[in-house]
Amino acid sequence: MLLHIPNVLTQEQVRGMRTALDQALDAGSWVDGRASVGDQGAKVKHNRQLPEHSPLAQQLGAVILDALKKTPLFFSAALPLRFLPPMFNRYEGGEHYGMHVDGSVRYAPNAAFPGGLALRTDLSCTLFLCEPEDYDGGELIVADTYGEHEVKLPAGDLILYPSSSLHRVAPVTRGARVCSFFWLQSMIREDSKRALLFELDQNIQKLRARLGDCEETVSLTGNYHNLVRLWAEV
Ligand code: NI
Repeated sequence: MLLHIPNVLTQEQVRGMRTALDQALDAGSWVDGRASVGDQGAKVKHNRQLPEHSPLAQQLGAVILDALKKTPLFFSAALPLRFLPPMFNRYEGGEHYGMHVDGSVRYAPNAAFPGGLALRTDLSCTLFLCEPEDYDGGELIVADTYGEHEVKLPAGDLILYPSSSLHRVAPVTRGARVCSFFWLQSMIREDSKRALLFELDQNIQKLRARLGDCEETVSLTGNYHNLVRLWAEV
């Protein structure tokens, strides 16, 4: 399931982040994006990113995770168990990221390897921190069984997609593409089960809005929770 989640950040939050990120760029704090990928990814990844351990990445990442807690659509779709700290990347001057798949298990920063906090990457998130008209190219292209999907969203919006999918970022031929990206482990491992729960939850919300709480909507809510209870790994 590929899902667009609008307005995760306010325009004011986006502006504040961009100012801080641009200042860090001027100060020379960004590094080669190959710092955080394996051998295969390193061959096709051409961008820059803020170092994972930098205080600025941690500070801005906390704002993003806090904003996600206030976004019910995100919670309904992702059913998150744990997150890796958000990271920040920038593409300009033809930079791109060729077709790749995200590593299946990642370790939290500072975790001892092996044995530190490991996270299975079920879902990948890209949160846009620039407007589509500010740059040419830079589409996130996600391939699934229905073909390829191009994603380029307004600043403050997020795309959620299965980490199991092949994806790439098209070359940025004008301006700069600045985004946050991060991974999460869901309480529901399988994409098909998570998609079914999302659909059920959304339909229950619509029925409650139309009918109020009645015997049937209460019962359906029970069905939803009992399915989560059957499938959740917590
Ligand atoms: Ni990726």
